[in-house]
Amino acid sequence: MKKNDDSKTCVAESNEQLIASGDYNRISPTAKLIAYTRQFSDIPFAKEIANITNSQEVLQKLITGSDQKSITEQLHFFSIFAESRYKSTMSTIKRFNIKQVLEFASGLSFRGPIMSDDIDSYVETDLPGIMDIKFDIISKIPEIKKQLEKGNVFFHTANALVYEEIEKTLIHFNPNMHIGIVHEGLLMYLTMKEKEIMAQNCRKLLDKFGGVWITPDLRTKVEMEKLNKYPSGIENIKVLTGRDFNKNCFESDEEIVEFYYNLGFDAKYVPQVDGSYEITCSKNLNIPTEFLNELLPKFRIWTLLLR
Ligand SMILES: C[S@@+](CC[C@H](N)C(=O)[O-])C[C@H]1O[C@@H](n2cnc3c(N)ncnc32)[C@H](O)[C@@H]1O
Repeated sequence: MKKNDDSKTCVAESNEQLIASGDYNRISPTAKLIAYTRQFSDIPFAKEIANITNSQEVLQKLITGSDQKSITEQLHFFSIFAESRYKSTMSTIKRFNIKQVLEFASGLSFRGPIMSDDIDSYVETDLPGIMDIKFDIISKIPEIKKQLEKGNVFFHTANALVYEEIEKTLIHFNPNMHIGIVHEGLLMYLTMKEKEIMAQNCRKLLDKFGGVWITPDLRTKVEMEKLNKYPSGIENIKVLTGRDFNKNCFESDEEIVEFYYNLGFDAKYVPQVDGSYEITCSKNLNIPTEFLNELLPKFRIWTLLLR
């Protein structure tokens, strides 16, 4: 870091250096793991997306274990996890009556086209490598292309930690209307310092537009307990991404609330399952009811409002 008398410049430089060394592209293949598991749900386009992206290859690299039972349980875990958080994020957007959505790290999920009848503007963002895959998917699935004809869904590359990149996407929003900032499957990869930088970006956005920040990503160690029973899967993700889920989790709900309070937010959660959706992968994969019932109540969705 360059020595500088101006402490603000010094802090800005150090954040830039941290982001420059973040190697976030290494996280991108996990989008394929999630795409693979979503094919067992009734989420639109999920099966086609899983096929087009050869997501099975990533699954085979990431989900390993000493026996078939452990591999099957991990597939069950990720399938429930991915379907529930996806549907819960969507249901929360509707509950808050949000008509303009900015999604970070949208991966291969395509919630924008799926919600295009319910919203005025939806902007999906992710890193460049994933956006290229998204454009390839759009060219191969005519139903997605059709949804895009309405002209209210947009795709941009943006690192969620870089405000200048996010700012370029704001042309799609009416400045007189609230926005919903959403993301799923991102924060568990980010360190506390990176979470702080991202929160500062979200704060700037909510200062400008008003609205709400919605995410299932604020996880404590308790929520990850079940996954930790499969150490080889966790280790594979760590090696692939260079990121440690366990280190990046919060210790407790109190820690989450305090962390975001200090950054200017009131953070609250409700259970993901709110009666508005079904977990359909459980039937398609014959997941034992006890497994589902043990897991689902642990998942929550958080909403953060400026305080
Ligand atoms: C587990 S995937 C989740 C994708 C998608 N939200 C879903 O649920 O299918 C994690 C995503 O985070 C993206 N990502 C990682 N670091 C990022 C960053 N700094 N800014 C924006 N996106 C990022 C990756 O490219 C990847 O698509």
